[in-house]
Amino acid sequence: MQESNNNCSGGSNRREFLRAGGCLVTAVAALGLPSSLAALPVAETKGAGPANEKRFPLPASDSVNIDRQTQVILIRFQNSVYAFALACPHEHAAVKWLAKDKRFQCSKHDSQYQPNGTYTAGRATRNLDRFAIRKEDASIVIDLHRWFESDKDPAGWASAVVQV
Ligand code: FES
Repeated sequence: MQESNNNCSGGSNRREFLRAGGCLVTAVAALGLPSSLAALPVAETKGAGPANEKRFPLPASDSVNIDRQTQVILIRFQNSVYAFALACPHEHAAVKWLAKDKRFQCSKHDSQYQPNGTYTAGRATRNLDRFAIRKEDASIVIDLHRWFESDKDPAGWASAVVQV
């Protein structure tokens, strides 16, 4: 897997990426989590480990798991696990899960994404960014220093998945 370059949209590096996403903690807190969880359970989670690599329990079933501190969405959906940046690739607004529609949607300009992060509509021009991810025993490990943008590295983006 090729490591993505350190540029996010607009040429920002990882530090700027996190800075831009800093407002997301507040934004997500304001958004709250959906009360209707019929389609896919949504939970808050918190990764363990050093700042560059976080370990999460492997979700036991299909679910959306949000780590606000690291700004990561960990989703298990149809036997696949992905780790997305919480920030929309357009202008880094928070992405939320719409349980009734079974998709993600940006909270700012309403770009829409499938559960696997694929862009389907709106102002964004690429899929949700995926972090490098691997399975170790009963854990999912996410490398927060390696992420893939679907337009710049489609092969890397496609490979950032764990099959369960
Ligand atoms: S910030 Fe998400 S579509 Fe504009």
